[in-house]
Amino acid sequence: MNEIANRFNIDGGPVDFEPGQTILQAALAAGVFIPHLCAHPEFTPHGSCKLCTVTVNGRSGSACTIAAMPGMDVQSDTPELNSRRRVLLQMLFVEGHHFCPGCEKSGNCTLQALAYEMEMLTPHFAHFFPDRPVDASHPDVLLDLNRCVMCELCVRASRDFDGKNVFSLAGRGMASKIVVNSPTGLLGDSDLAVTDRAATICPVGAILPKRVGYKVPIGERLYDPIPISAQVGRLSGATAESGCCGCGSGASGGGCGATASATVAQKEA
Ligand code: SF4
Ligand code: FES
Repeated sequence: MNEIANRFNIDGGPVDFEPGQTILQAALAAGVFIPHLCAHPEFTPHGSCKLCTVTVNGRSGSACTIAAMPGMDVQSDTPELNSRRRVLLQMLFVEGHHFCPGCEKSGNCTLQALAYEMEMLTPHFAHFFPDRPVDASHPDVLLDLNRCVMCELCVRASRDFDGKNVFSLAGRGMASKIVVNSPTGLLGDSDLAVTDRAATICPVGAILPKRVGYKVPIGERLYDPIPISAQVGRLSGATAESGCCGCGSGASGGGCGATASATVAQKEA
């Protein structure tokens, strides 16, 4: 690899990259945090949330989808870009029910962690107060789409990892929503298993394992002791943990006690 050629700058600092990496992947691998929500190291990015928007040679673009190129001048941690991110977060908060004190995902929630990171102090906009039915039909997994941020990670995980296509995106614009592929549209009638990657990848509290609430107390969860910007190794996939299932253990979905105990409960049922 030509080390000089495969290098670009973020906020004035050099970042080396491997050919094929996106700006986000190269930045995280180099220890530089770029706020992001819908990108995940296990899945192909699709650039929907726009939180990772940076300027590249003066033009705006999604860091998770733009290929790293030699000599690029990338701006990310600027007051203007962070202000835009704060507005995006505020819009996501008011479009759903993100009442952190009452959510089991609190402390393990990427949306909440990013709001802290971007110093979002108020929702600013009027709340939509959506009224979407909570689907508790599955024996081991709760689905509350009032908290969905439409990142489509569950869609990608079910399709690309589990090979099941349990979730998909339907509708357009404000009518967009995640739907469940089952005869009734209910999760309990789908092929989803609590051990599926799709059951553990949700970055917010929309998909949660049942019967494991508060396994790890508030204050000891994933983002409680360490801000998200200091967890670039985990976010880049360089360390084993790539996201918590919401059990509160802070471990990766596949290896946490919640998943294990839920699986045992499922087998015993
Ligand atoms: S349910 Fe969770 S993982 Fe699926 S799109 Fe909504 S926020 Fe993303
Ligand atoms: S993380 Fe890049 S658009 Fe969502």
